[in-house]
Amino acid sequence: MKQSYSIVALPGDGIGVEVLNQALRVLRAAGELFQINFDIEEIECGGHYYAEHETEWPEGSFEKCKAADAILLGAVGHEVDGKTVFTKPAKPYPEPQLAGYAQVILNRRELNLYANVRPVKLYPGVKHKIHGELKQVWEPGKVDYVVIRENTEDAYTGETNDIDGGRMTPIKITRRATERVVRYAFNLARQRNKQMKVTCVDKSNIIGAHRFFREVFREIGTSEFPDIKLDYAYVDAFCQWQIRNPEWYDVVVAPNLAGDIISDNGATTAGGLGLAVGGNIGDEHAMFEPIHGSAPKHAGKDKANPLAAILSAQMMLDWLGTRHHDNRLTNAAKRVEAAVAEVLAEGKTLTYDLIGEEKASKCSEVGAAVEDRLRKLP
Ligand code: IPM
Ligand code: MN
Repeated sequence: MKQSYSIVALPGDGIGVEVLNQALRVLRAAGELFQINFDIEEIECGGHYYAEHETEWPEGSFEKCKAADAILLGAVGHEVDGKTVFTKPAKPYPEPQLAGYAQVILNRRELNLYANVRPVKLYPGVKHKIHGELKQVWEPGKVDYVVIRENTEDAYTGETNDIDGGRMTPIKITRRATERVVRYAFNLARQRNKQMKVTCVDKSNIIGAHRFFREVFREIGTSEFPDIKLDYAYVDAFCQWQIRNPEWYDVVVAPNLAGDIISDNGATTAGGLGLAVGGNIGDEHAMFEPIHGSAPKHAGKDKANPLAAILSAQMMLDWLGTRHHDNRLTNAAKRVEAAVAEVLAEGKTLTYDLIGEEKASKCSEVGAAVEDRLRKLP
């Protein structure tokens, strides 16, 4: 058992800072309760940092991320006077990009975090905002699948070329990257032991590179995972089925861009982006983050929903527990999830997105409520 776990915390920009604070508070409480020592280093970074320093984070930060047992990210993206700050073209992403993206894209690519694991799970009591009103639309228990998004290639290579007076961005799908991500998805279906099914979601009817993704999926599935059912969907049609019939899905695997879109769309059925979580997972490293952005217009108001960030810390605990065969972490993860579920089911101490502006609690109050439940749970 390890004496101590080193965590790099990257608050980033906007609401990322506030929600990560609440995640760290819950993480510290979990550490205390389960006698786990976390050595947490916070590194200031993101678009606001770039605006001041012309670099997105202090020198040596990437090496610190690489050396850490796990990374916890808030959100990145910064505005000045309502205008988004873009970085100059920089390695490894030669296109001008939203300042702060380096941490996300660089860590995902350079640390080989090839599987972006995004659970779509509806907790009891959670309401959805539909037609401006909060209602219970989907049924808990019928929304419980995991999107595995390939995290290193597809349209995210950063390459763009001039062509015919316009620009062209390639879609790259390699055998190596596809094999490892589809294996991750099949193994997860086995581990979940629910429907024993993996759905491949792509645009293989028109994009040749996606056809290759699907072929590799079929090949690995039939040869290595005969106990798992293979299922297929085109991403456009999938977008409506995941809303109408989410209970069909167990594990879903998709190329990068399709996975990006369907994970946000799936969040609609699970209470919105305020609750949606992503783990960027590789064989050696991992980074956990809420999948929402930095929401500059809500920043600094202690208003944003911290539950996605808290559930990211929960996912990190679970991953660390499995990786290091440390039951303290696995139990802490279970307890944090139970504490969040209690706060949701109780339906009192919630942010505006889940309860409406009039009854809304603050970001820090929701963090405190989760910590309180965590300490009281048996
Ligand atoms: C996400 C985000 C990122 C992505 C952005 C910030 C580059 O939308 O994590 O889903 O597209 O991967
Ligand atoms: Mn996204």
